Amino acid sequence: MMHVAFLLLIVFTGGSSSEKVCSYQDVVDYLNLTTNSGVYKLTRPVLNYKHLTVVQLDIILYAILAVIEKTQTFIPFVWATMTWNNERIKWDPDQFCGINSISVPREMLWTPDLFIYEMIQKDDSPLNPYLYVLNDGTVTFEEDLRVVSTCRMDVHKFPFDTQKCNISIGSAIHCVDELHILPFSNASRATQFSREVMKSQGEWEFLDLSISSNNFTFGSKQWEQLIYTFTMKRRPLLHVINFLLPILFFLSLDIASFFIADHRGEKLGFKVTVLLAISVLLLILNDILPPMSNKTPLIATYCIVIFAMMLLSLLETILVTYLMEKDSASYEKLRLKNNLEEQQEKVNNCNTEEKRENCCPCICKVSDSEKQHELLPVAEVVHNSIQWRESHVLLLILEELKELQHTLNLHLNCRHQVGKCGQWAARINRAFFIFYLTAVSLFLSLIFIEWNRQEK
Ligand SMILES: *[C@@H]1O[C@H](CO)[C@@H](O)[C@H](O)[C@H]1NC(C)=O
Ligand SMILES: *[C@@H]1O[C@H](CO)[C@@H](O)[C@H](O)[C@H]1NC(C)=O
Ligand SMILES: *[C@@H]1O[C@H](CO)[C@@H](O)[C@H](O)[C@H]1NC(C)=O
Ligand SMILES: *[C@@H]1O[C@H](CO)[C@@H](O)[C@H](O)[C@H]1NC(C)=O
Repeated sequence: MMHVAFLLLIVFTGGSSSEKVCSYQDVVDYLNLTTNSGVYKLTRPVLNYKHLTVVQLDIILYAILAVIEKTQTFIPFVWATMTWNNERIKWDPDQFCGINSISVPREMLWTPDLFIYEMIQKDDSPLNPYLYVLNDGTVTFEEDLRVVSTCRMDVHKFPFDTQKCNISIGSAIHCVDELHILPFSNASRATQFSREVMKSQGEWEFLDLSISSNNFTFGSKQWEQLIYTFTMKRRPLLHVINFLLPILFFLSLDIASFFIADHRGEKLGFKVTVLLAISVLLLILNDILPPMSNKTPLIATYCIVIFAMMLLSLLETILVTYLMEKDSASYEKLRLKNNLEEQQEKVNNCNTEEKRENCCPCICKVSDSEKQHELLPVAEVVHNSIQWRESHVLLLILEELKELQHTLNLHLNCRHQVGKCGQWAARINRAFFIFYLTAVSLFLSLIFIEWNRQEK
């Protein structure tokens, strides 16, 4: 009985001693880590001040939130992971039931003062509150950042452009001999990983991510920077549908308007309407492009040249209309003048004849028929000599003939004039149309070649 009790006691105590219970707090207590222990957070965690702190950084692009040319702003959403070594932290996992990692609030430990050079607005999303600590002193910190960064964009080829934006990360105060930044994963790995996790791309297609390192010198000090370059390509469909195609449609309308007849005002009105429609589209462009750019954006050239072409064609229409107006006015004047001359001549004739032989006014009437002319004088000049009578009749006939010729002349002249004028306008129109078509197609092909050109 005693033996059994003793055995049980041994089993019980032995079992309890082998079943050791550990908690994270034991590790924290062992490390003397408290919220107000300055030793872990006051200084850079190295035992010898000559030691470098190496920070390994990993940046993954999670989403492209916005690329705004107008303000030259690039807003990506990135996942950043930083890893460094804290030389003061070390424990043996075997002492703590194999615990080899703990998480502690980030305020309790020193963290590197990394910042993004291009960031122009403080990120207001909540920070990750914990750090992850391994038993060999490796500390890991993760953060999701909405980076509102400035990026110099080139809008020369808008909307067929590819933009490169940099995110440079460096320490605010620690120089190159205190803090060293290394990329954790290489560029191809980071690009691939970004592609895998990327959720929203929207207008922009992410192409790749490259990493380079640079030493930033200011005064006698040097800071190390890690530069992540994001390359992305715009999907141009929206702008093509919204902007480029409508302008082309208006241009084709303008070309089609050459087939509207000249001599009424319709053509002029039509062209002015098309020009107004284009200028409304130009207002949209104003919202997209930045106010200054080192190279004129091709789209601005595209708009302004097409606008100028249309203006030119409008001016040509005005010119032709003006010339035709002037022509028809001079034709009218010519007819009036001819009429006037005609009447004057008749009056003159009448006067001379009256002087000669007191002829009656009926002879001078223009619209009288030939018979009347013949009959009346015959009745009138019975007593006169036959010779004189004959000569008089001849004179009258001559007069009639002259008049006939005059009207004929006038008519011929008029028709000739109208024909000449019409031909003239048609010739100008045709020449301008050919010039216009050539210029437009030349310009369009040039600009599309330029748009498609790959830059090295
Ligand atoms: C924690 O503090 C105790 C005494 O206060 C000391 O003996 C011990 O070495 C400290 N532990 C570490 C890891 O510094
Ligand atoms: C981005 O960084 C690369 C490499 O340092 C540099 O050549 C390029 O000019 C930078 N681009 C911008 C827009 O700052
Ligand atoms: C990038 O890293 C991966 C492993 O992380 C490796 O397989 C690949 O060869 C590396 N690429 C380059 C270009 O160094
Ligand atoms: C920056 O300076 C450090 C230390 O002087 C050097 O090791 C590193 O190669 C430099 N990096 C570049 C990109 O010049």
